Amino acid sequence: MPGAAPPAVSPPRARPVADEAGDVAAPMIAARGLRKSYDGRLDILKGVDLAVSPGERVALIGANGCGKSTLLKCLIALHGISGGSLSTMGRDLSRPVGPEVQRQVRRQTGFVFQKHCLVRRRTVLSNVVHGFFGEAGSWRAFSHNLAPAGWREAAMESLAEVRLAERALARADSLSGGQQQRVAIARALVRRPRLLIADEPAASLDPVSGRNVMELFTRLCATHGITLLFTSHDMAHALGHASRVVALKQGRVLFDKPPSQVTPADLKETFDD
Ligand SMILES: Nc1ncnc2c1ncn2[C@@H]1O[C@H](COP(=O)(O)OP(=O)(O)OP(=O)(O)O)[C@@H](O)[C@H]1O
Ligand SMILES: [Mg+2]
Repeated sequence: MPGAAPPAVSPPRARPVADEAGDVAAPMIAARGLRKSYDGRLDILKGVDLAVSPGERVALIGANGCGKSTLLKCLIALHGISGGSLSTMGRDLSRPVGPEVQRQVRRQTGFVFQKHCLVRRRTVLSNVVHGFFGEAGSWRAFSHNLAPAGWREAAMESLAEVRLAERALARADSLSGGQQQRVAIARALVRRPRLLIADEPAASLDPVSGRNVMELFTRLCATHGITLLFTSHDMAHALGHASRVVALKQGRVLFDKPPSQVTPADLKETFDD
């Protein structure tokens, strides 16, 4: 969408999901000496220290296989950790947690992945309504026809923010890759999460669409006060859209600093064997 006008961003509305921990002052993420192994022997993460405050935009960078996606999954209780301590949005994830805590964390987290994982045959609007799965009465999130009026309105508002309201009733697979990724962003933000996790959100897009998608969701996160943690192999995205850059290497944090302080030598060390 080169040269396109910026999307109309509506004023922030009250977040519909209550903070079930009731602790909005807690750091979003506090990890100390976090370790993770998949087979019980080889540690992928060997002691990660990471603190993220509300409203920060953190880019996670590092070579293929260094553990970025693994760390993201640990932070949101998709994977249990193998050692150290971890708290996300005030909930202690240091030990195995039950489905209720997992559900609480996920209800307040939005996700955007490299593959947008839309339901191709469903409408754009239904795909955004799917963002309400996990709420009470989730079956009504199956389709926009079944959804309560409030969910449909929130979904339309979210689509307007990514400038796709006029495509609401189109089939998802009739949109371009960049447009589909914008639908995925609308779906991730429809519940006004406190935390947005984006794992290589622009990796499958052409350079212009990728830049636009990065600009769009970082701006929406800032507008709505959503804390953002994203991974990218595109250093222009990492340095241009984050307030902090965290590099992972050999299972630990190599550096953690504002983009303005990241040097070419830092990047070389991050990606050198
Ligand atoms: N479910 C799993 N079971 C076993 N090993 C896994 C699993 N997921 C990841 N791994 C291993 O953990 C290591 C880190 O993988 P991860 O996907 O976290 O890396 P990454 O930094 O996200 O890489 P990329 O930049 O390629 O996305 C890799 O060696 C990978 O093979
Ligand atoms: Mg990954």
